[in-house]
This record gives sequence, structure tokens and C-alpha cells, in this order.
Amino acid sequence: MFTALEKAEFDIVVNAIEEIKGSAGECIIKEGDQGDCMYVLEDGELGCTKVFMPGTDPTHLKVYAPGEGFGELALLYNAPRAATITAKTDYVIWKLDRDTFNHIVKDAASKKREKYDNFLASVDILKSMDPYERSKLGDAVKEQKYKKGEFVITEGDEGSTFFLISEGTCEATKNLGGAEPQKVKDYTKGDYFGERALLTSEFRAANIIVTSDEAVCLSLEKKTFDRLLGSLDDILKRNMEQYHKYTKE
Ligand code: CMP
Ligand code: CMP
Repeated sequence: MFTALEKAEFDIVVNAIEEIKGSAGECIIKEGDQGDCMYVLEDGELGCTKVFMPGTDPTHLKVYAPGEGFGELALLYNAPRAATITAKTDYVIWKLDRDTFNHIVKDAASKKREKYDNFLASVDILKSMDPYERSKLGDAVKEQKYKKGEFVITEGDEGSTFFLISEGTCEATKNLGGAEPQKVKDYTKGDYFGERALLTSEFRAANIIVTSDEAVCLSLEKKTFDRLLGSLDDILKRNMEQYHKYTKE
């Protein structure tokens, strides 16, 4: 959410942040309340629940780990708090007030979410994700543009980035023991690659080369990939089995 900020804006946000320490069991945000700030968790563990039907028990949505932000929805959309956030352990959080958020963060953050929401919802691999979690991917992705023939990934390199194609086409080639690397896969808009190095901690297993005049890829760093796409681990690993038919001699 803060990645789009210029240095001067970032400094204003840092100066406005207030550190709050609290104890296990405390309710930090209550569903339905008015919200006048957002938070980032520095230390501890928080649980998030939501009542989907009035009169029923709350549903557990997620556990927050350090580095994650929450409480931004009420500020982005001037809406009541959409969920309840309770401390599972003693905690330290950073609080950012509504005025600073509105002046510095809101426009860029809501534009970025809106810009990517429709595209991300159309990506096959992301369809099973909770829509709220998916919209948070929009905060985290970085857009990179490439020209025809450029290597997005080079086989044998170390890799810490995951990619989705938002425009254009690419191909994967792989060294299979012959004189030249051979084409093993085509990619188009909505496809992903670069997951293998992140999931296996091995070197890049193929080249990814742009085949259209231009291509635009959305990239996610490993830390964000683990945090936001952790729930897709099983699907990604299952899909990786298709690579087994290509083995280096
Ligand atoms: P806000 O509505 O301001 O306060 C509750 C917070 O819970 C919300 O912002 C989000 O940051 C967070 N949250 C986590 N998961 C969800 C979800 N599935 N739906 C809505 N809010 C969620
Ligand atoms: P990674 O190894 O991180 O970087 C190269 C990517 O190419 C890889 O992840 C896969 O996403 C993709 N790929 C396509 N075909 C293959 C293949 N046959 N073997 C391994 N990776 C492949």
C-alpha cells in the first residue's frame, strides 16, 4: 500500500505513525464501528473475524503476521469496519490517522486496487482466492514493461520474483541438452510463471522470453508471494507436475 509513495510522502507517513502497545485478548477493530485510522502490525499475532449473517457466529478470516496492514477499508471507502480484529498475543501496532491517509495514501492506493481488480479477478489461478485478499494483490504488484525478444527470466539465475502477464505473450525455452534451448511452453495474458524457483528454492528452470512486440508483466516479490498466495500453494505445486515431462539430459 505504501510502495507507490514518493520519498517525501513516505516521510510524512512515517512521521504521522503512532506506535501502540497492547495485550492479548484486546479488540483493536470492531465490525460495524466507524473507523478513523488504519494500522500496520509490527509485532504479535492478530485474528480477523466477520459476521456474514446477522445473529450467526463470526467466521474466522485470517491471522495477521508482522508487516501486514489492516483497517484500510473503512478509510478507502468511507464504510463501517468490515471485520473484527482481536489480539491473540501481546502486540505492537503502528497507527496511521485518517487525515494523513486521505491526503497521502488514499488516491494512489484506491486507484491501484481499481486498476488491477478486474484483471486479477480474470486470472484463472486467482479465481479461488477470497476477493478481499485478491484485491490486496493489487497493492503489491509492480508493473514491468518488456520488448520483443527480452528475457523476463533467464534459466540458471537465482529467482525471487513471481510474474503474471497482463499484456502480450511470452514463451518458455529450456536447455534440454541440445545445441539450442527448446521451446516448452507458450504464455498469454492471465498466465503466470516464475513460481518454481520460489516454491523449490532452486535456480530458474527455464527462460521466459517475450514473443509479442511488447509485454507487460505484474511482478510479486517472494515475501509478498508467500503471504498473499500461500493459500494457492497446493494448486501451484500440482500444476508444476506438468514440467516433469521435460527433463534435462
Ligand atoms: P476495515 O473494514 O477498515 O476494518 C476491518 C479490517 O479487516 C478491514 O478494514 C480489512 O483491513 C480487514 N479484513 C481482512 N479480511 C477481510 C475480509 N475478507 N473482508 C473485509 N475486511 C477484511
Ligand atoms: P522458475 O523456475 O522460477 O523460472 C522459470 C519458469 O518457467 C518456471 O519457474 C516455470 O514457471 C516456467 N516453466 C515453463 N516450463 C517449464 C518447464 N518445463 N520446467 C520448468 N519450468 C518451466
